[in-house]
Amino acid sequence: MSKKTLLSGVKPTGTAHIGNYFGAMKQFVDLQNTHRDANKFFMIADYHGLNFIQNAEEMRRLTLNLALDYLAIGIDPKQSIIFKQSDVSAHTELAWIFDTIVTMPYLMRAHAFKDAEAKDKEINVGTFNYPVLMAADILLYGTEVVPVGQDQKQHIEYARDIALKFNHIFGPKNPQEYGDLIFKLPEPLIMENVATVPGIDGRKMSKSYGNTIPLFASREEITKAVMGIVTDSGGPEAGGIPMNVYNIHKLVKSEEKLKELYAMQKGKYKALKEALIEDLDAFIKPMRERRAELAKNPKKVLKILETGAKQANKVAAAKLEEAKKAVGVL
Ligand code: TYM
Repeated sequence: MSKKTLLSGVKPTGTAHIGNYFGAMKQFVDLQNTHRDANKFFMIADYHGLNFIQNAEEMRRLTLNLALDYLAIGIDPKQSIIFKQSDVSAHTELAWIFDTIVTMPYLMRAHAFKDAEAKDKEINVGTFNYPVLMAADILLYGTEVVPVGQDQKQHIEYARDIALKFNHIFGPKNPQEYGDLIFKLPEPLIMENVATVPGIDGRKMSKSYGNTIPLFASREEITKAVMGIVTDSGGPEAGGIPMNVYNIHKLVKSEEKLKELYAMQKGKYKALKEALIEDLDAFIKPMRERRAELAKNPKKVLKILETGAKQANKVAAAKLEEAKKAVGVL
């Protein structure tokens, strides 16, 4: 039996927030610890990010920041491979091969494309093609499990469809007889209770909505964000609980303890927010300190990315070669 393979990625397009963490990044670390003998790849999706960050210095800064974030939350380069998408050219090369079998109407069904269109936004080809590059990211490594938040579910479905289509057109006609399929079908791993972490306004926490709590926020930043939470009484069904506060609070404290606290402080929004600030700060502080330590030595971080790129390239190059042979360019 071959080892299980897990892969996921984050775009370096801003400051990582607790939605990224609880929705996806925490699972990276949990899986690393529960799946010791699996192959684990955690990618910095800089080529996806290039659709949004078009400034060289900013891109370098955000990329290094995300590598620090990965390390500070506990991704261990001895157990997992941390790498930058652009360091493994097989991703863009395989994406091109996929481009030749994916149709435009099919890509026009992507949520991100439809949203941009509905808002009359000009859409670049990179954004339109986003799901194809992401399919290449996943399929190159024979990935079985992709830990992500709910908003990425459709992208994993695209990856599955593209794998099926490629296997159908170019794969062995009878895989039982002729060996394995070229591309494995990946599954998303989405934790139900944190599939969509809400932001301080109750909508999905998102860099683009400006409603985030940064993952490595200072005490002051935490205070500012929490004081900015839109307080709602939650309506009768929530029993007067300010749900926007509660839903963030339950990320860092058990619901059992929260019930007690929210009953005791009923209607006292300021006191509840102060309790949330305490709990968030206690949660973030050790990671914030670890990150500050790591940030003192950026060379070491760059070295980790260099090693990760070598390891990822090895696996990706072999799969790309298989795909190139299958389509007949090799
Ligand atoms: P990105 O950078 O937008 O987000 C990184 C991860 O954070 C999750 N997430 C959330 N989860 C729950 N609640 C939220 N409010 C929330 N906000 C963000 C996202 O679902 C994601 O898992 N396309 C990807 C990056 C990518 C990738 C890949 C992922 C590129 N190639 C291959 C997996 C496999 C993205 O833009 O994530």
